[in-house]
Amino acid sequence: MTCGAHRPAVEKATVAANDRMARGVGVVTLKAPATAAAIAPGQFVHLRIAEGADFILRRPFSVYRAHGGHLEILYQVVGVGTRALSEAAPGTAMDLIGPLGRGWWVPEGAAHALLVAGGLGVAPMGMLVECLAQRGVAVTLAHGAPTSERLLARELFEANCRRVELATDDGSAGACGFVTALSEEIIAADRPDVIYACGPEPMQRTVAAQATAAGVPCQVSLERLMACGIGACLSCVVSTRDGRKRACVDGPVFDAADVLWEPSEDPEVRA
Ligand SMILES: Cc1cc2nc3c(=O)[nH]c(=O)nc-3n(C[C@H](O)[C@H](O)[C@H](O)COP(=O)(O)OP(=O)(O)OC[C@H]3O[C@@H](n4cnc5c(N)ncnc54)[C@H](O)[C@@H]3O)c2cc1C
Ligand code: FES
Repeated sequence: MTCGAHRPAVEKATVAANDRMARGVGVVTLKAPATAAAIAPGQFVHLRIAEGADFILRRPFSVYRAHGGHLEILYQVVGVGTRALSEAAPGTAMDLIGPLGRGWWVPEGAAHALLVAGGLGVAPMGMLVECLAQRGVAVTLAHGAPTSERLLARELFEANCRRVELATDDGSAGACGFVTALSEEIIAADRPDVIYACGPEPMQRTVAAQATAAGVPCQVSLERLMACGIGACLSCVVSTRDGRKRACVDGPVFDAADVLWEPSEDPEVRA
């Protein structure tokens, strides 16, 4: 699968629906036909949510699903922008730049994929799981969250995965504990052909180490502050074995084996 073949463009979008999923978490559906037709799994859009000084900088969001001229975005309210997004009623106009970045890729011959998601880490995985299922790749999802209420989008994943394993910090669903305990067991027992991880960076780093130890290729989707979203401002750098990369154009999905997780590993930081 090749990702990011389409050039980004500005598109006027309209809120078609905006539904609460859990406390502080929702899914907004935007009518944006050009971007919906062009976007690949793991890419993102840069959204101008409203007018005014708080919105001079766009906010980056992964696309959870794209279908019928619409984009679905899962969001968590963390500040002024995501609060405004949660309050946007159907009919509200916004504009976005997309598709942006480099998304997930499917290695040649992969027959079994393990997806590891922490909390809202499922946000860039809806399109991915649909794409893998269409290609006949068997998918196992390991999904962790603080509580069962935060295990989002379970129906889509149950419909497209061969196996779904859950973990919650409070034990309210699935195993009690971190999702990385599940991923460790699944990698050892099943040895997937490829691993995709998204969630808090310490979680992704642990999954990357598990993948390296097992010799399984692993992709991670990294979150950085993004001012421009188009490669111009360097606010989003990621240290890699191949030098510093911009998450907005060279990522947000990276080969986990290329990522230098510790600043001390980066010769440009040490210098
Ligand atoms: C590639 C990518 C994909 C993302 N996908 C999603 C998603 O699908 N769902 C979701 O809920 N969140 C996602 N995020 C995080 C989301 O962009 C931030 O939570 C959001 O920008 C915060 O805006 P705010 O105004 O509510 O927060 P505030 O903290 O008030 O924002 C203040 C400023 O900081 C910037 N900012 C703050 N936090 C982040 C952050 N984590 N990343 C980038 N910029 C930030 C904002 O652009 C804004 O200019 C993604 C981030 C990246 C980089
Ligand atoms: S956000 Fe400006 S270079 Fe990446």
